[in-house]
Amino acid sequence: MKRSLSMEVVRVTEAAAIASARWMGRGLKMEADDAATTAMRQVFDSIPMDATVVIGEGEMDEAPMLYIGEKLGSDKSGPQVDIAVDPLEGTNIVAAGSGNALTVLAIADRGNLLHAPDMYMEKIAVGPEAAGKVHLDASVTENLKAVAAAKNKNVEDVVATLLKRERHQPIVDEIRAAGARIKFINDGDVAAAINTAFDETGVDIMFGTGGAPEGVIAAVALKCLGGDFQGRLVPSNDEEIARCEKMGIAVNTILQMNDLVKGDDAIFAATGVTDGELLKGVQFKGGHCTTESVVMRAKSGTVRFVEGRHRLDKKPNLYIKD
Ligand code: FBP
Repeated sequence: MKRSLSMEVVRVTEAAAIASARWMGRGLKMEADDAATTAMRQVFDSIPMDATVVIGEGEMDEAPMLYIGEKLGSDKSGPQVDIAVDPLEGTNIVAAGSGNALTVLAIADRGNLLHAPDMYMEKIAVGPEAAGKVHLDASVTENLKAVAAAKNKNVEDVVATLLKRERHQPIVDEIRAAGARIKFINDGDVAAAINTAFDETGVDIMFGTGGAPEGVIAAVALKCLGGDFQGRLVPSNDEEIARCEKMGIAVNTILQMNDLVKGDDAIFAATGVTDGELLKGVQFKGGHCTTESVVMRAKSGTVRFVEGRHRLDKKPNLYIKD
């Protein structure tokens, strides 16, 4: 994969973040998502690559843009890559005006990203120090102890993060019984997974069940960061079980990082839409706005934080259309 792609794709997440941030706190999650998707789609087509969407806004008949199988890029003789997008990770977050919404994408050489079906996935994520020390089949207590040892902390000092959902009550009970602390999130488990790799975010491990497509995107980020991510699909009915079988994934199989994203190269990019622990959200200041993004590449392990200052008069498409 061309290294320059990583700098190109930040423009994609930036544009999506600027467009969707316009909808912050307006209670309109579909509009926020549409704005991000439209902006992302436009910028993708200016990048010299021959790309196919493998994780996107849905199947062709249910999504007008960034649907699974859609071809993107301006140069069919450019690098052949597969793309996973979540134009707005945290649609409810933006609608509610809360924190940690991101625009995210992941890119890998063709065939290297798991085509995760739209169902739940049980997940565990940690940063580099605890990579290889946790396991989805170990108990919550064992995993907390492993992270504490790897990070030279007491279990009481470990902070676990997870989506605030009723289905997570047994995990919550076990974390509390072990004496560790919890940082709940209302939405956005891609940001939560990435945060485990950055000390300044204050979280050490992510547990819980969330979207499988988000799991693949988070796995790419943690591969770039040298962390660990494991997932297990959780089909909720016979149709979803059949979908797993069709993909050749046994329902109880633990998907390791290399199953989720094959090979030694991949790119991840994200831009903050609303303020989060790692990235500030879009700030509008009269005629311009600022963005904060992170872009990373697995092969080199380079992580770049990119601050953007954008002239809005030069980007008329990113204005809200009432
Ligand atoms: P959207 O961006 O599609 O709203 O997803 C947000 C999210 O919180 C994901 O981060 C997470 O994986 C999933 O939804 C959890 O699903 P649910 O809300 O059904 O528990």
